[in-house]
Amino acid sequence: MTLAALAPVQQQFDIRPLSDALGAEVVGLDLTAPVSNDAFARLHRAHLQHHVLVFRDQRITPAQQVAFSARWGPLQRHVLHQFALPEQPEVLIVSNIVENGKPIGLGDAGVFWHSDLSYKDKPSLGSFLHAQELPAEGGDTLFANQHTAWHELPAELARAVQGRLAEHSYLKVYAELQRRSPWRPDLSPEQIAAVPTTRHPIVRTHPENGRKALFVSEHFTTRVIDLPDDESAALLQALFAHSTQERFIYRHRWLPGDMVFWDNRSVLHLAAGCPDDQRRRLFRTTIEGDKPI
Ligand code: SIN
Repeated sequence: MTLAALAPVQQQFDIRPLSDALGAEVVGLDLTAPVSNDAFARLHRAHLQHHVLVFRDQRITPAQQVAFSARWGPLQRHVLHQFALPEQPEVLIVSNIVENGKPIGLGDAGVFWHSDLSYKDKPSLGSFLHAQELPAEGGDTLFANQHTAWHELPAELARAVQGRLAEHSYLKVYAELQRRSPWRPDLSPEQIAAVPTTRHPIVRTHPENGRKALFVSEHFTTRVIDLPDDESAALLQALFAHSTQERFIYRHRWLPGDMVFWDNRSVLHLAAGCPDDQRRRLFRTTIEGDKPI
């Protein structure tokens, strides 16, 4: 046997930037096969650099999605366990499909800008979303770069948020979401107890790349600690408007087989929505991150 035959097979794939704001596509990597340590290290660097990775043309099973996601850290389960995939409860079904009068998934996940699970003490490091069924029209996901948003924050706002904490709550817009989507279930007392409010720095330091990022969102951030209500509301509105400007955004137009992996520590995201008569179904896995500092 030659030495070449003993050498580990190099996994060949390309990483191509998608926009000036953020994002890169990973082309030519088949995630049904084990990812070598070298390939994983390259993906890790690319994720830190581009914040959103789009793995094209993936034909993986939910179990394979869970296994690949778990290489990045422990998986988190969503409080709406009604929408977990029965055979793979770490997978959240994101879907607008109603079958026999019942929603099969969370149809309005992401209708407000947010960072996943920021209402937890340890919010999400990142999330994977794998396309299962895509609408012919719409259904895009938008990502906004919060490192750049921080970097370009006007000096007056930067001074106003210096050293401040903000409160995050899963319940902030829950009633509003139920009003818009009457199928959204009432939360049980156990579910409410599982999502107490938490506090995080408004400007966090990314634990891996060391860069600062804004960390507030219209979906989950309720108030700035130690500010009067009117000042807190005005400051948050200014931050929400600043952080989601067009120049910070990459708009992902889904292709069949896409699996997108974003960094919740450096981007906000938003589901743009699609017409009600168009079916959309994706599988999400979410990885636990650090307590923001
Ligand atoms: C989410 O916010 O996790 C879902 C995003 C989407 O459906 O595009």
